[in-house]
Amino acid sequence: MKILVIGSGGREHAIVWKLSQDERVEKIYAAPGNGGTSCEEKCENINIKATDFDGLINFVKENNIDLTVVGPEDPLSCGIVDMFEKEGLLIFGPNKAAAQMEASKAFAKDVMKNANIPTADYEKFEEYDEALAYLHKKGTPIVIKADGLAAGKGVTVAFTMEEAENALKEIFLDKVFGSQNNTVVIEDFMEGEEATYLAITDGVNIIPLSVSQDHKRVYDDDKGPNTGGMGAYTPAPVCDANKIERVTKEIAKPMIDELKKRGITYKGVIYAGLMINGESIKVVEFNARFGDPECQVVLSRIESGFLDAVLGSAKGDLSNVKVINHNKSAACVILISGGYPKDYKSGYEITGINEADKIENIKVFHAGTNADNNKILTSGGRVLCVTALGDTLAASIEKAYQGVNKISFQDMAFRKDIGKKGLKILGEI
Ligand code: GLY
Repeated sequence: MKILVIGSGGREHAIVWKLSQDERVEKIYAAPGNGGTSCEEKCENINIKATDFDGLINFVKENNIDLTVVGPEDPLSCGIVDMFEKEGLLIFGPNKAAAQMEASKAFAKDVMKNANIPTADYEKFEEYDEALAYLHKKGTPIVIKADGLAAGKGVTVAFTMEEAENALKEIFLDKVFGSQNNTVVIEDFMEGEEATYLAITDGVNIIPLSVSQDHKRVYDDDKGPNTGGMGAYTPAPVCDANKIERVTKEIAKPMIDELKKRGITYKGVIYAGLMINGESIKVVEFNARFGDPECQVVLSRIESGFLDAVLGSAKGDLSNVKVINHNKSAACVILISGGYPKDYKSGYEITGINEADKIENIKVFHAGTNADNNKILTSGGRVLCVTALGDTLAASIEKAYQGVNKISFQDMAFRKDIGKKGLKILGEI
């Protein structure tokens, strides 16, 4: 089987790596891929952008690709699945209408309200003055979400009125998320522990994968600005098997059923960002793709069934598919270019990746890297994801940092407390 994976981050490297372990897979192409995908034995990078749909469709037809897997949200929300399916090509991911669950916060909130999915109370505004008046009425802490895709930067959790007013000003007056982004959702602040539920669906059946916890802030102890994610671990003790079953029944299933009522079949990945407080589980957000870096740990834990799940979802029939996990924990530490998520420099040589990869149960996924004449150079904010399996959460964390210690590049930085919140919940620290 020949597969095309679209995207260029750590998530897509993990997808390529996991799919390539299946002996039915003979060749994988990554468009455009990164320094890590190009080093995988079965994989070749091709220089076509994730948003060049005509280029991708031509490539798939000319090279007899059997299945295309979409990593990031942009091509999904722009309708790549609709275009491939119109051409009769098999593709994994939600179509444009379903991907609105991520692309429009207001749409997602409306779906949740109609499906009685627990989430924070909210109001939607299209006028700056009305939004500002509501803000002053509600006070802080409060959450302000720009409606459209905003590369992870559209959500402000404001603890002061100044932060909240500034967030509204950026959206409505400064138009930092574009002139079309004229809708905000203002919602109540939720207390609790955040966790990421990932599942694969064919629009009817749902296969939950493991629940993980991301670390969004750039510095230890959840300080500093938000990033795409500085590390993750799974399974997350805050969401045990009983709670995972509840999320499937009370959140994921009502979501796809409500979309079905609206004439939309949701296939692909369900990402539910959760807020868990005791027995209360509420939805922070839905996304239409695997999280990054959650994907790296969740796929590392899968022992078998991933390709069948992806194929079954794309074909619309998961009824006989099972995904089995290793009875292990996985932890991943992201190495960044110092300065990220603000300004940083790139183009530095990275050493030690092979030494880290050689350690048993460690896999180094690449994110912002380029291969250049047998050298691997930094090319982005999030550079590498050092991922490890261990018999316990503590063992997986220790192993991941053992891998981190082998690697170096100029300006390298990382968080030193990945997984600590899980160890606290387990009472181990
Ligand atoms: N790590 C958060 C996300 O992928 O949205």
